[in-house]
Amino acid sequence: MSARIQAPRGTYDVLGETALARDALEGHARRILEGAGYRRIETPTFEATELFARGVGESTDVVQKEMFTFDSGEDQTFTLRPEGTAPVCRAYLEHGMHKLPQPVKLWYLSSYFRRERPQKGRFRQFWQVGIEAIGSDDPGVDAEVVLLLAELLEALGCRGVRLRIGSLGTPATRAVYREELQAHLRARADRLAPEVVERIDLNPLRAFDSDHPGTREVMATAPRLLDRLDDEDAAHFAAVREMLDDVGQAYEVDPTLVRGLDYYTRTVFEFTSDALGAQSGVGGGGRYDGLMEQIGGPPTPGIGWAAGVERMLLTASTIAPAEPALDLYVGYAGESHRPAAFRLAADARRAGLAARLELAGRSVKGQFKQADRAGARYVAILGDEGTSLKDMETGAQQTVEADTVMHHIAKAGL
Ligand code: HAM
Repeated sequence: MSARIQAPRGTYDVLGETALARDALEGHARRILEGAGYRRIETPTFEATELFARGVGESTDVVQKEMFTFDSGEDQTFTLRPEGTAPVCRAYLEHGMHKLPQPVKLWYLSSYFRRERPQKGRFRQFWQVGIEAIGSDDPGVDAEVVLLLAELLEALGCRGVRLRIGSLGTPATRAVYREELQAHLRARADRLAPEVVERIDLNPLRAFDSDHPGTREVMATAPRLLDRLDDEDAAHFAAVREMLDDVGQAYEVDPTLVRGLDYYTRTVFEFTSDALGAQSGVGGGGRYDGLMEQIGGPPTPGIGWAAGVERMLLTASTIAPAEPALDLYVGYAGESHRPAAFRLAADARRAGLAARLELAGRSVKGQFKQADRAGARYVAILGDEGTSLKDMETGAQQTVEADTVMHHIAKAGL
């Protein structure tokens, strides 16, 4: 026998209960997001590599290490999408969506690909629910977007959820701040962990995440980006916070909140869950007012978030995977009745009922058992003495003509 082939590392099959739970999650997302005026968008699974190099940023881990890139054989390389924001912005430009009423509000539930080391809650192909609101820099959009993710996590019963928010200001403020932080670190390099010293040039902000005691001391007095925002950015951030306060949305301001993608400006936020362990990020996002220009469009503000489907399901407590309803189970006693049973099941479906036909050649007793397991409301067994119709809810059973089964069921209001 030849060796069995398995699913690639970091991928998985969606089966049984998990498939039902994901359907339920999608239902909640659709209800909440479409209710708020978001329309579904689906973009291609792969895009020009340059879209992510320019959009997500050359210096990010995602672009440097995690992209699945392949040669198209036509002098172009493509990349399996590692995230959804750059593709949605590309679609906005490509379809001239600036002509629509702004902001254009779009949502997606799609799969994404990152070459990461797989572990609990971290996969190489994973799914995200996400939204993008493009074409407005009003702080009200920021606050509403944050609340929509809070509402989704609440509807799913996600446990131990905390919200952190911050503001990154503009790239110009950030550049000045970066130099200030680098100077602070260089002046105290002898007290820092060696790996922090190594990263002073490349990524000084990472120093805020260090557990090293000397580094922590140095960081306690380090300048904070939040204190360096220009007046407009500070007012924007204050307005977002005020609106969240106004509706009683709890959050912590995290002056060191950095996200792994380069396009963020102003508001950034992240929902974490204690129920997740190391990979504690359930979902996050922020504003990306410079992204459209990065990918060749006119200046266009935007904000959005994405939340991992696997991580939401890992933390969800109340999501109830409902078995699909079954109105009628059609069975038969003896092969000669099979064609009539087939016709009855087809007729029932045409009439709009959820109907299932016996397909495994079970005994009549076995058919009743199977119908019961499947949660059927009615069972019709076609046989020599006519059709036996059982109401599984009341237990009432009667013999009827095969062509009146639909009539009897209709009387019960199905
Ligand atoms: P992100 O923080 O990279 O943001 O990903 C969002 C969420 O996707 C994470 O919080 C996590 O739940 C999930 N996720 C990310 N990587 C993995 C993985 N390897 N396995 C499982 N789940 C994962 C973005 O992707 C931005 N596009 C969000 C955004 C939209 N910002 C503005 N608009």
